[in-house]
Amino acid sequence: MGFIRSTAALAALPLVFGQNSSSPFNNPGAVSFQTSPPKYPSPWGEGLGDWADAYSQAEAFVSKLTLLEKVNLTTGVGWEGEKCVGNNGAIPRLGFKALCMQDSPLGVRFADFVSAFPAQLSVASTWSRDLFYQRGNAMGSEHRDKGVDVQLGPVVGPIGRAPEGGRNWEGFSPDPVLSGVAVYETVKGIQDAGVVACTKHYVGNEQEHFRQAGANNSEAISSNIDDVTLHELYVWPFADAIRAGTGSIMCSYNQINNSYACQNSYLQNYIMKNELGFQGFIMSDWSAQHSGVASALAGLDMTMPGDVGFDSGTSFWGPNLTIAVLNGTVPQWRLDDMAVRIVAAWYYVDRENNQVENSPTFSSWTQDTYGYSHYHASEGYTLINEHLDVQDDHAELIRKIDADGTVLLKNNGALPLTGKEKLTTVFGSDAGEAMYGPNGCGDRGCDNGTLAMGWGSGTANFPYLITPLEAIKSVVRDNRGSIESVTDDFAYAQQAALAHRVSQTGGACIVFANSDAGEGYITVDGNEGDRNNLTLWHEGDALINNVASQCPNTIVVMHTVGPVLVGNWSDNANVTAIIWAGIPGQESGNAIADILYGAVNPGGKTPFTWGKTRESYGTDVLYVNNNGQGAPQDNFVEGVFIDYRYFDRFNETPQYEFGYGLSYTNFSYANIKINARSAPAYVPTTGNTPAAPTYGSVSNRTADYLCPPGFHFISAYIYPCLNSTDLATASLEPRYGQNVTINPGEYDSSPQPRLPAGSAVGSGGNAHLYDVLYTVTADVTNTGAVAGDEVAQLYVSLGGPNDPVVVLRNFDRKTIAPGATTTYSFDITRRDLSNWDTAAQDWIITSYTKTAYVGSSSRRLPLSGTLSGANTGTSSGYPPGPTGGSSSASAVPTGGSSSAAGGSTASSYHHGKPTGTKSWAPPAYTPPGYTTKNW
Ligand code: BGC
Repeated sequence: MGFIRSTAALAALPLVFGQNSSSPFNNPGAVSFQTSPPKYPSPWGEGLGDWADAYSQAEAFVSKLTLLEKVNLTTGVGWEGEKCVGNNGAIPRLGFKALCMQDSPLGVRFADFVSAFPAQLSVASTWSRDLFYQRGNAMGSEHRDKGVDVQLGPVVGPIGRAPEGGRNWEGFSPDPVLSGVAVYETVKGIQDAGVVACTKHYVGNEQEHFRQAGANNSEAISSNIDDVTLHELYVWPFADAIRAGTGSIMCSYNQINNSYACQNSYLQNYIMKNELGFQGFIMSDWSAQHSGVASALAGLDMTMPGDVGFDSGTSFWGPNLTIAVLNGTVPQWRLDDMAVRIVAAWYYVDRENNQVENSPTFSSWTQDTYGYSHYHASEGYTLINEHLDVQDDHAELIRKIDADGTVLLKNNGALPLTGKEKLTTVFGSDAGEAMYGPNGCGDRGCDNGTLAMGWGSGTANFPYLITPLEAIKSVVRDNRGSIESVTDDFAYAQQAALAHRVSQTGGACIVFANSDAGEGYITVDGNEGDRNNLTLWHEGDALINNVASQCPNTIVVMHTVGPVLVGNWSDNANVTAIIWAGIPGQESGNAIADILYGAVNPGGKTPFTWGKTRESYGTDVLYVNNNGQGAPQDNFVEGVFIDYRYFDRFNETPQYEFGYGLSYTNFSYANIKINARSAPAYVPTTGNTPAAPTYGSVSNRTADYLCPPGFHFISAYIYPCLNSTDLATASLEPRYGQNVTINPGEYDSSPQPRLPAGSAVGSGGNAHLYDVLYTVTADVTNTGAVAGDEVAQLYVSLGGPNDPVVVLRNFDRKTIAPGATTTYSFDITRRDLSNWDTAAQDWIITSYTKTAYVGSSSRRLPLSGTLSGANTGTSSGYPPGPTGGSSSASAVPTGGSSSAAGGSTASSYHHGKPTGTKSWAPPAYTPPGYTTKNW
């Protein structure tokens, strides 16, 4: 039961918990109005693992700070108050500069002379750890060199529950392991460059509609997610980011189980900071904070951009956090913990030695050289844009990522082109220049010309954009050939006439089409962030069919933010090849030319499933409020069954399955070996944390915190100081002092029990989860005539009736010479074989038989073997482990090569069945309360 306290401000009102009997601890536990349990106190950082040095330095620093200085670290100065999209307060007395928080996950947003990297979706399709890292490191370097302290990326929320989700392209993949590996390497790359990564958006931020309160909803959408699904799917990649040491995590706009992400004590205190041992700081998304004391006690560490509404001049924190500490509603240890976490992240990535003079060297709000440093207030006219060129030679890396991530979906022998075609023709606006230029629409909020970036905050300005048409033209002319194009998507007569000429002379018709999406604050062509459908834009189907009706060698290239429906034309015999070229950034044209003409042999694999219909995914965006004016209720009733897991479970045949992609050569798989490794039993973590530390002392003389007399206030700027010694007056809140019910434990600073799945020695959860239980090896032979890259994939069947048919657990990409055989080696960790056990609140390995599969996609798994022999038990004996035995392995004929040049057709693919020893027919499964799969 709660007790009554006096509170500082409206800012202090905590959410009311527990008024509903439905619990997310049931699985599936996704029902309207469910709530998750309150979890307090907010765990204090301890400097676990490799954070120890950063914590010692941060603790020493924070010990010197006054109350106002500590508050200043936690609170943004307000929207457009300084030059970055987010800026906290400085501590000039100790020479500590304010932090510059800057988008985006693909480059330095709003700046000039920076690189426009491929979107995360595109780097994901390379399946290359090395490229994940290199991209992160190159982006981090550009942020560092422009003077950014915190890069607002990478993104693993959304993960991509519904294919229409507007920001899916900002993320990697709907698979948690591909996302988890990619985020791990990206965070390492960014932070090795000396910049803090901010992994976002935590969590359940799966659609743009209703992400914030609006005309049709008084509160943001609630993503209702059960405990198992949270652990096994949505939180999984965040755990990898934490394990990689991400210095910051951004809490999201939406509610989870009817509590706002940034004040959800279960998600922040219990899972992120306790179970996963997160040592960095939680930053709010922009205006995602909805309370003062409640969000502080629920684990939020920094509010961005600092004001309640953009430029409101008021803040839930700032002076209200000072007041809350003075009146005891936020304990000093909690504020000290916020400050230590922020400063520790700064030390952890060595910001101290990675500063740029006069940083930040650019302004987000204008590209003029001189202007106002306090843009909103029109104050501080000075040099604000130094126009530093930080691109380095990153263009080469970008081109490589694009080419390596390009996915060849169909090829009947048309590709690669020779460059000697008699007549090369190019069609579609997606091949050419945007009428307004590459940066002509703010935050890329339009779909003109070739699509190389989605829209919203996850963007950067292009330094240039090589279009497919100019790159193809250049290759053709190098070969002294002829090339013509029609880039008007609707000039059907001209398209048909040009395509017809190819039918007479020979040559190729290369058709470009796209599908765009973005962040919800911009609507493009009626799409409010989320896509309205899964079809190509600008009547792409009509364009393709029009060209294919005339041209016997029609090659389709798509730039899309996710899957599109291709069934209208993919089986057309005149469509000789199909390519997905992702969301490539500035080097788009060069990379697609590399693939089309064979300078690079495609080796990318699709990081999401291509369904035949919209309905085949089983998940969709909630477009219409289902709760009157209240918070829309988005029940994630499908549990962990998104993307290929859903298709497999319900025997839905995809157009192109997850992990699929062809090459200009062929690969065959053989010789699987399973080696049980010696690993200790799992030991659930026990014991207590130390008591909450405080650093320095806080005087309770209110007069010490008054803003200095004669102080010049910048308009709408947020300061930590008070305008009155009377706290009620200083709070600017008429309801100051109102009694509210709070939850037990919020103020408890005594040693706290650690969680079994947590850790006393490092972050990312119990270290035994990462013990390697098995190593699986398999041989892959390049049976074709050219060298090529193959991404071999390891999947596991966890074996239980509620488990997916298979889940991806590891992968590797290697280049194999023609005729050569290469051995791939995959470790399988305890985590890889575990399920989340709600009762134990821990990971356990069930006694169901575990099987490993190796192959070239989620449905082309020629090799398999039973996993047995390793120590899968726990030190406590709960639950009983499976019986021992020796591993067995088998090689099963695939019924064809895994990928093919010149022979693979869409029809053979369509009817292809997954191979392996298991039966593919999914176990009968009906989610409780549902009689059909049509949720
Ligand atoms: C987005 C964040 C972004 C922030 C700052 C928000 O609207 O959701 O991803 O970092 O704005 O631009």
